[in-house]
Amino acid sequence: MFVLNHDAQLPLYAQLYRQIKERILTGKLTANSRLPSVRGLAAELSTSRNTVESSYLELFAEGYLYSKPRSGYFVSALDHDAGPAACADRPPGPSLPKAPLRYRYDFHPARLDPKSFPMTLWRRCFLDSLRESAIELAHYGDPQGDSGLRSQIRSYLERSRGVLCEQEQIVVCSGLQQSLDIVARLLKDAHSVLAVESPGYFLPRSVFRNQSFEVAPIPVGAQGLDLDALKRSHATMAYVTPSHQFPLGCVMPVANRLKLIEWAESGAKFILEDDYDSELRYHGKPIPSLQGLRPGGNIIYLGSFSKILSPALRISYLVLPRSLPPAYRGFFRDYVCTVSLLEQRTIAKFMEQGHWDRHVRRMRTIYKHKHDALLLAIDRHFGEEATVLGQGAGLHVVLQLSPRFGSEAQLIERARNQGINLFPFSVTAAEGEPDSSRFLLGFGGMSGDELEQAVALLFKTWSR
Ligand SMILES: Cc1ncc(COP(=O)(O)O)c(C=O)c1O
Repeated sequence: MFVLNHDAQLPLYAQLYRQIKERILTGKLTANSRLPSVRGLAAELSTSRNTVESSYLELFAEGYLYSKPRSGYFVSALDHDAGPAACADRPPGPSLPKAPLRYRYDFHPARLDPKSFPMTLWRRCFLDSLRESAIELAHYGDPQGDSGLRSQIRSYLERSRGVLCEQEQIVVCSGLQQSLDIVARLLKDAHSVLAVESPGYFLPRSVFRNQSFEVAPIPVGAQGLDLDALKRSHATMAYVTPSHQFPLGCVMPVANRLKLIEWAESGAKFILEDDYDSELRYHGKPIPSLQGLRPGGNIIYLGSFSKILSPALRISYLVLPRSLPPAYRGFFRDYVCTVSLLEQRTIAKFMEQGHWDRHVRRMRTIYKHKHDALLLAIDRHFGEEATVLGQGAGLHVVLQLSPRFGSEAQLIERARNQGINLFPFSVTAAEGEPDSSRFLLGFGGMSGDELEQAVALLFKTWSR
């Protein structure tokens, strides 16, 4: 059975989670078999019910388990052949309204908490880096990014996101736009069609179209990308946000992740995994990456510092699959790194000294508070007239309004007249009629009180 080590550093629930997950992935726990009851297993392991419940909930959230009312938890059916090797065109869409810099209330989904940038620590790390980099400041630096930073990113990704890679696979970039641009240039000789999520993030559509790719919109359901539609498309590359779908917030269950990996392996196709805000999950632990399920597969992993630290720093990274670094170095042999060495070294120091992990935990607590305040305010003011989608993670939720309120353009205009910035959901639609009864409500930039006031004003303005 399962063994829990009370002296280990890993929390008990995480130990249990790992052991059950390993047995599911290796087929030792078979599909549809019932897991012991929470109470039964807790008694058997002499541990608390909380421990067992937390591990079950985590496995449930990732799709390893499903539940039946009053019957308990069961093992999901996975395609084991696709499992990890023994564990080891429509015209461009509407452009975004240019927002004035200051609104009274700003619901833009990319806003961060303005008071939480770690100024003092950052200044200290920056000044130390400056002092220590006299020689390097006279050079161009490593074209793939500072090796100290890549080493920190590698170990962070391994311990927190389950991404397994070598430092040589990591490229430091100045944002997702550049990461995607690199991928498009690198792969465009052999690939011409990129599948994107619809609704989904607009940037990949734009970057790949600008590189003469055809973009194939694939619908998104409650379990993420529609894999049958993907298979029917001509795409040989797929951009996905599996751990927190943008914008709807769903998690791609592990069975679908394995099928997606199988799709990629059926003919040298590539998955572009955008893991942009997966640190921010407010119940249970973050969903592990897709890359970690098949570290040797054709998965290009894209990460960013924009959600936890600052979007203005413009620092991101990509992890190339093991097969690509030689081609990358050949293709970009004359290019230099676009991110400032001092900024790179500052982040590396920040991570090395343990500030990053503490900062992630701090930001998770701050954003959970804001997230809860927003949900409470929506419930208080909109009640039955709105539904919230995609709650529990990230920096935004989707507000689904009752149709009586009016069209997206009118509602945005009326809100703007009251000093409220809203982000149109329609820009996330890659094709078809955009759903005008939905809005992205970002909560990162406002305090709990401001969120309450903003939602109250929104309801009042729209109800007139
Ligand atoms: C889906 C998604 N991916 C990635 C990013 C991060 O992009 P960048 O690293 O360029 O700031 C964002 C930012 O809003 C996003 O919404």
